[in-house]
Amino acid sequence: MIAVVGGTGPEGSGLAQRWARVGESIIIGSRDAERARAAAAHITETAGPLASVEGADNLTAVKMCDIVVLTVPFAGQAELLKQLKPAFRPGTVLIDASVPLAAAVGGRPTRVLGVWQGSAAEQAAEIAGKNVTVAAAFHSLSATVLKGDQPVDCDVIVCSDDERARQVASVLAAKIPGVRAIDGGKLENARIVEAMTALLITLNIRHKVQGAGWRVTGLGI
Ligand SMILES: NC(=O)c1ccc[n+]([C@@H]2O[C@H](COP(=O)([O-])OP(=O)(O)OC[C@H]3O[C@@H](n4cnc5c(N)ncnc54)[C@H](OP(=O)(O)O)[C@@H]3O)[C@@H](O)[C@H]2O)c1
Repeated sequence: MIAVVGGTGPEGSGLAQRWARVGESIIIGSRDAERARAAAAHITETAGPLASVEGADNLTAVKMCDIVVLTVPFAGQAELLKQLKPAFRPGTVLIDASVPLAAAVGGRPTRVLGVWQGSAAEQAAEIAGKNVTVAAAFHSLSATVLKGDQPVDCDVIVCSDDERARQVASVLAAKIPGVRAIDGGKLENARIVEAMTALLITLNIRHKVQGAGWRVTGLGI
């Protein structure tokens, strides 16, 4: 079962809908259990007959799952993880999709903030503690392209210091039609992938689209 913390927002809902469509069991997490249940009901309606989606407050969702996908704004990431830390099961794989956009402090969404640990994902790993292994993934998938059921023309670069976390994130990425998971090396590379996402926002603005993404060539995979 996969907890999508912040799954009431467009990114988490989009991922949850894609995974529910192929039969994954999902718990949408929210600061408000009622809001989570409403989002879960909506995803169940749109995701088709295989969908198994529940809603719960973030803490309950995390307690129930061995895989947690974090899709909250960077501005709330650290505080939320401090609250969730005691609830993580030993061995939990935490997949962080946060991008530390400067918009979090009133700046531009086309710029990223400097994060002391190096990236939002490394900050997540530091705060979540030893029960949790972290992978950074899904930054390149815009909520706009995740909506609906069309194949997504995009690669997902997965960064982690833990092979199991990388594997879990890669398998989940590959469950989204059209998506290819690319091993992006250590978690420290998340700072590059997160910054590339700010560039995707620039590309969306300049080319007047909403779903710019990446394809990596020449890897022979
Ligand atoms: N949108 C995209 O296309 C996209 C693409 C790639 C990566 N991302 C990343 O994915 C994350 C989520 O994106 P989003 O567009 O879905 O964001 P969002 O709509 O702003 O937030 C997602 C959810 O996070 C919860 N939340 C908001 N502020 C919070 C806080 N201070 N503390 C704890 N929870 C909070 C809210 O759920 P409740 O109020 O129900 O708790 C909200 O529905 C961001 O870090 C973003 O950088 C987004």
